[in-house]
Amino acid sequence: KRVAVFISGGGSNMLSLADACAAEDFPAEVVAVVSDKATAGGIAKAVARGLKTLVLERKDFAGKAEHEAAILAALDEIQPDIICLAGYMRLISGDFISRYEGRMLNIHPSLLPLFAGLHTHQRAIDAGMKIAGCSVHFVTEGMDEGPIVAQGVVPLLPEDTADTLAARVLTVEHRLYPLALKLLAEGKVRMENGKAVRATES
Ligand code: GRF
Repeated sequence: KRVAVFISGGGSNMLSLADACAAEDFPAEVVAVVSDKATAGGIAKAVARGLKTLVLERKDFAGKAEHEAAILAALDEIQPDIICLAGYMRLISGDFISRYEGRMLNIHPSLLPLFAGLHTHQRAIDAGMKIAGCSVHFVTEGMDEGPIVAQGVVPLLPEDTADTLAARVLTVEHRLYPLALKLLAEGKVRMENGKAVRATES
């Protein structure tokens, strides 16, 4: 399966997906890295890997609709089967999502449905949580709201700061996202009636 990875930042999740895809028996390949930030650290990392990069900054377009139309047009040439959002910091419209319905994943560094949105690690600490983690979910219109495909858990320690917790969760993100992508690429999970449904073993 052909995968486009969307980033806005450092791109460590993008790299973990690219690394997994580089393995011979992995059922997907990264065909493009799309960024809404020219300065995203992940762009240089993608270029260094020889991955195709596309930078489309919001400020270069009149509005959100025009920006998304340009991304969709670029994707039409690349023909991805799957889109993985990996630290992409824009809310994508329903029109866009419907074009890739059931074929779009996002990773969020919390145990959804807890702590959707920003400052998720500090909120987990403030809530007195004893565990934290990350979730890969199908993308739907609400932010961080779609059906959950897979989750990973880490302990939340008394001495944790948002930064130390983020680093611990990130190591699990790097393992979880390739696993979730593999499930989708192999047709072992699909979105149905607002749920992520696992195919039964045959
Ligand atoms: C990750 O924690 C991801 O879950 C969140 O933003 C961070 C992106 O990190 N949505 P990176 O760009 O993949 O290094």
